Amino acid sequence: MNTIPTLPKRARLTGSWALAALAGLSLTIGACGGDEAPKKTAKSAAKKPKTPAKAAAPEISGVELVDAAKKYFSPLPARADNPNNPTSAEKVALGRALYYETRLSKNHDLSCNSCHMLDKFGVDNEKTSPGHKGQRGERNSPTVYNAATHFSQFWDGRAADVEEQALGPILNPIEMAVASEDSAVAVLASIPGYEKMFAAAFPGEDKPITYANIGKAIGDFERGLMTPGPFDDFLKGDITALSPDALQGLQLFIDAGCVQCHTGPNLGGIMYQKLGSVKEYETEDLGRFEITKNEADKKAFKVPGLRNIVKTAPYLHDGSAETLDDVLNVMAEYQTAKGKLDDDERRHLTAFLEALTGTIDAEYIKKPELPENGPKTPAPDPS
Ligand code: HEC
Ligand code: HEC
Repeated sequence: MNTIPTLPKRARLTGSWALAALAGLSLTIGACGGDEAPKKTAKSAAKKPKTPAKAAAPEISGVELVDAAKKYFSPLPARADNPNNPTSAEKVALGRALYYETRLSKNHDLSCNSCHMLDKFGVDNEKTSPGHKGQRGERNSPTVYNAATHFSQFWDGRAADVEEQALGPILNPIEMAVASEDSAVAVLASIPGYEKMFAAAFPGEDKPITYANIGKAIGDFERGLMTPGPFDDFLKGDITALSPDALQGLQLFIDAGCVQCHTGPNLGGIMYQKLGSVKEYETEDLGRFEITKNEADKKAFKVPGLRNIVKTAPYLHDGSAETLDDVLNVMAEYQTAKGKLDDDERRHLTAFLEALTGTIDAEYIKKPELPENGPKTPAPDPS
């Protein structure tokens, strides 16, 4: 296991800050339109307490905060299984190989891992990613880690699940640029080793090497790409898993209403919301509208998950926010009634978001040896 160091363990959050924070706990949960941002913002929590610390404030542990947090979040599952694509060790092994398979690209130079590097928290840290012949699309590559928990895939939700999603980039002319489903299948069928692997992954099927089965195998592999971290320990009751700064950040995350949208096991991925829900935000990309053609979906995007967020810069659908500070400012100002954040608030939020950095299972993501070309395997095509 490639263990990412956890935050220093500290036990208790004390003093009147915590009291003020608890006072700010009441929060309206509802649809996140602009006007529904919570009236109570974290101001009360963030201000220096007026009452002398020791007298009034009982010692407060993180215990109350665990209870509050459990209303919005849950620990990551070990796998995000799909009843329509039952998992097996053979299918996962095939999916892992296909994830790294550059022969699923026209010029045999790109795989899923080119843009979603598994040893880099599932991203390439580029604003937009170079695909076939270096072409770049308009959107930032989101991470594949924990993505299987999302209610739909892509920034605009145009694929229902990871199985369907995986079939998109292979044929996308600016990504892996394979000519057709048939050519992808023909390439794999020409590689003797894959015949066995598909047969083992899809037992009982006459012709197991199909385009749909490529998606099922990659999807099954992706469903195990979970990165539990200190925040999961916290949600399970270990209040020492978050530093005092992180606890303050979590409180602010709740009070400022970030939780209206960033909720669930991945702190996102369970709804669409407009970018610029309280204040108009300039972007050409119409997001979800392109799929539904509903006026209300203009500039709406799937709320992204926030696990490992400190590792996945740049941010937003177009990669326009270079740093975490940049995107925190955008969120506070355009998505919540909070408005501007001060330095302490940004520091606290960052400490909380750092606790969302999880552990990558090095064994699970290890690149396998890929089967060798057969006599009929087509050559790379740089055109
Ligand atoms: C050339 C770069 C590139 C390659 C290669 C690529 N992707 Fe992506 N991937 C992207 C971009 C960009 C997006 C976002 C596009 C959008 O939302 O319109 C994306 C989105 C995704 C998502 C959605 C995540 C979410 O939270 O919605 C998943 C999952 C994913 N890719 C997996 C894969 C898999 C599996 C492969 C290989 C079959 C692959 N990608 C190949 C660039 C790439
Ligand atoms: C009204 C819903 C909503 C609220 C409230 C909200 N967000 Fe977001 N958040 C989004 C959406 C939608 C995006 C994606 C926007 C885009 O890419 O265009 C996003 C993106 C982000 C990102 C970047 C993720 C990435 O991978 O690029 C971070 C970090 C973030 N939000 C943190 C926060 C914090 C912290 C708060 C509270 C101060 C907050 N958000 C409040 C909806 C919301």
